[in-house]
Amino acid sequence: MDKKFYISTPIYYPSNKLTLGNCYTTVLCDSIARFYRNLGYDVFFLTGTDEHGQKIQKIAEEKHLTEMEYLNEIVEDTKNLWQLLNISYDKFIRTTDDYHVKVASKIFNKLYEKGEIYKSKYVGKYCVPCESFWTDEQLIDGKCPDCGRDVIEANEDAYFFKLSKYENFLRDLYKNNLTFLLPENRANEMINNFLNKGLKDLCVSRKTVKWGIPVEFDKEQTIYVWIDALSNYLSALGYLCDNDENFKKFWPCDVHVVGKEIVRFHAIIWPAILKALDLPLPKQIFAHGWLTFNNGKLSKSKEVGKKEVIDPRILSSRYTSDSVRNFLIGDISFGQDGPYSQEIFLNSYNGILANKVGNIESRLIGMLLKYNNGKIQNGKVTEEIDSKFFDTIKALKVECISKMKELKPTLSYKTVLKIIDECNTYLDLNKPWELFKNENNKNRVNTILFNVIQAFLETYTLLNAFLPESTTKVLKKFNIDSVKIDENNSFNFDIDGLTFEKGEPLFVRLDINKELQELNEIANS
Ligand code: MSP
Repeated sequence: MDKKFYISTPIYYPSNKLTLGNCYTTVLCDSIARFYRNLGYDVFFLTGTDEHGQKIQKIAEEKHLTEMEYLNEIVEDTKNLWQLLNISYDKFIRTTDDYHVKVASKIFNKLYEKGEIYKSKYVGKYCVPCESFWTDEQLIDGKCPDCGRDVIEANEDAYFFKLSKYENFLRDLYKNNLTFLLPENRANEMINNFLNKGLKDLCVSRKTVKWGIPVEFDKEQTIYVWIDALSNYLSALGYLCDNDENFKKFWPCDVHVVGKEIVRFHAIIWPAILKALDLPLPKQIFAHGWLTFNNGKLSKSKEVGKKEVIDPRILSSRYTSDSVRNFLIGDISFGQDGPYSQEIFLNSYNGILANKVGNIESRLIGMLLKYNNGKIQNGKVTEEIDSKFFDTIKALKVECISKMKELKPTLSYKTVLKIIDECNTYLDLNKPWELFKNENNKNRVNTILFNVIQAFLETYTLLNAFLPESTTKVLKKFNIDSVKIDENNSFNFDIDGLTFEKGEPLFVRLDINKELQELNEIANS
């Protein structure tokens, strides 16, 4: 089996500090990447920043900074945020990095030499914030169809990519590969909203945008954002570079995870560009929904800068990185929109982290301390109920892995949480607290604890990709330093004889009213 996996987030616009909405994509991708690593795959997890364009130029000017001064600040904040949230990216690409600039140029030149790009005149409308050109028919009430803001007139020389040529190729792609774009309904959107309306050639350079990669053979022009941005998925691997080992190893990408508003770029334009370059297409594009706040998309232009308690930096420092991850992974169905509110966030903390994830650990260690002075001992007195328990756990483990391989991280996470419920049920059925009253049951009590701790370790191993901070801490206590999900074997943890002392609880239940009040105070301070 081919045990390698390449996953990417979109590269973020540093037009402001990133929001919890941006964390959504990155945290989901991180759990998928970690899960595959734990399964023994060689993973390449890419993220980064999309740094060119008129908007960045404008913001830097307003702040009386050079573009790079401004960008460096945001990139530093972004990297700190990823560290805070335990994001395990393998590469952070900046489109201003030298190697990327060279590769994006080479790609542009290559397409030009192959006759895939030609010079013409662009007449139409342009949306500055979205950096998108639109035709009159595409506008909605005269405004940008993506963001609803005013557009400006554009009439200038520009280079065009022959996108229209790829209409049939794209139709065939959607007809023959039903899982290329997930969730499935997104493919219909691409067919109905774009392919059926006819594809027009795409403007891929600008004369008026100075903050961009110059077209090598026509220095008046800069490469317009999407060829520059999309190329990051190739340049990060060393495509067209001397050292292209990663490109050979990891391309085609297993999955590009993107938000629903940028599907068109990834599911129409990107496959056409790759085809024009004679490169294989990514295996899959996954379009997720939006994290919403007060009924709208949570976005950089709206939320950042206000004293909002939805700042992931505040949430993570107050409630741990796993609290933010738990909310993003567990409370929004991957693929759909989902709301953020402090109540949902705090209730999820209590309901999942304190009552389930943390509680099972303290319950087990508490029992060990009470019934066997903190020592794990395999009492080897088995009963029929044990094998049933193990079978249930194994089935849930298989389900958890397969859900993740189907790119359903929310369901995969929820399946692990079911294993915790099974551990609690097993204890409730066996009632070690009653058996313990009779000295003759000592070995059975120890067996029950041994069994349930094996299952608990299985759970934490699976959970590690989702909640790395807390699970790593606990697994270390059991001498498990590197987490490996063994797909073929279960319950093989070498723990017989380990001893525990009383420790701090992982997640303390929150007083929701008190927390809400304090969060509001932070917001109003
Ligand atoms: N720079 C482009 C992507 C180029 S990829 C070759 C871009 N950047 S962005 O910063 O505006 O958005 C990056 C990602 O963040 C998008 O996938 C977007 O959907 C995601 N999100 C931004 N706000 C979001 C929510 N409120 N909820 C979920 N994801 C959101 O587009």
